[in-house]
Amino acid sequence: MGGLHSSKRRRVDEPACRWSAEEIGILADAVRSAPSVHNTRPWSLAVRERTAELREGEIETLAYHDPEGRDRRMSCGAALTNLVLAVRSLGWTADVDIGIAGKSLAIAKVTGSRRADPTAAEIRRYEAIGDRTSYRRAFGPEAVPGQLRETVSSAATSVSVLGRWISGGDEALAVARLLAYAAGAFHGNADYKRELSAWTTVPGESKGEGELGLSWADLVSAGLGAVGLATSRTRVPDESVLTARIERESLLVVSSRGDEPLDHIRAGESVEQAWLEATGAGLAASIMTQPLHLGEVRDALAVRLGLSTVPQALMRFGYPAAATPGNRRGQP
Ligand SMILES: Cc1cc2nc3c(=O)[nH]c(=O)nc-3n(C[C@H](O)[C@H](O)[C@H](O)COP(=O)(O)O)c2cc1C
Repeated sequence: MGGLHSSKRRRVDEPACRWSAEEIGILADAVRSAPSVHNTRPWSLAVRERTAELREGEIETLAYHDPEGRDRRMSCGAALTNLVLAVRSLGWTADVDIGIAGKSLAIAKVTGSRRADPTAAEIRRYEAIGDRTSYRRAFGPEAVPGQLRETVSSAATSVSVLGRWISGGDEALAVARLLAYAAGAFHGNADYKRELSAWTTVPGESKGEGELGLSWADLVSAGLGAVGLATSRTRVPDESVLTARIERESLLVVSSRGDEPLDHIRAGESVEQAWLEATGAGLAASIMTQPLHLGEVRDALAVRLGLSTVPQALMRFGYPAAATPGNRRGQP
């Protein structure tokens, strides 16, 4: 999108106690640009005085892909990160209050109570919002440097969420087995595939600007990115091919302390923090949650990685294939 640039970060003259129409537009743009399950944007945004209210919305038509609403809540978490960064970029504190009773839909209120300059990291991540996109194709050959991996995993880590890289052949093999198992399970589920096709444009057609749903052209049929969203054309690679791919790519496991609705929102916030940090540094990324919708896959992954936390998302990072070292923001 590239529309969220620094000129919008200047402070806009505002009436004493409410955001101006221009500021509200900046908040809405940031929220609209967040990643979401099947690009459904399962939220609504309302602004009152200097409080922005993000409400989780039900999507009944994801009964087979997201029966528990895990992805819906993570999507709201990602949108909340963008909202907070936009509030901070306007030069306000962002006091967050998340209301969620039991399994009910969440409401996150973000209030700018006083003036406060954004940090360098907040500015960097805010400015990456318009460039972030799902990159499911194969990455270029260049490895992600260790220091950048550290920065990205730190961006995903908070008091309630852990970002941890898959490392070494044993872990890669364990993940490959679980991904192949999950892809096979979804691939064989006709109801799931029917539901996915309802959210996907037909071949040759592209999605209009701002339209919900997935573009057929954005989905790939082979590689790790394909295993993360099984379609009728997904070719599930054998374990050794998948293991080699995992070892070549940088794969981050985002896990949360608990597995309650608030944990899913927190995981979504972390996913977006890491994704924006990586985007700002010229990396491309995509997320896979689908395999982790299977409880047995979540449990087995935690055991194989020695985690006491609950895996919520896998994120793959690398340099876009077309980018050269001098042009790291090259188009995917
Ligand atoms: C919680 C969540 C779960 C997602 N799960 C998957 C997934 O399993 N596989 C996949 O390929 N993309 C997944 N995505 C990516 C969305 O399809 C993508 O964000 C959406 O289509 C918008 O496209 P964009 O990321 O390019 O803006 C997920 C995104 C979110 C926020």
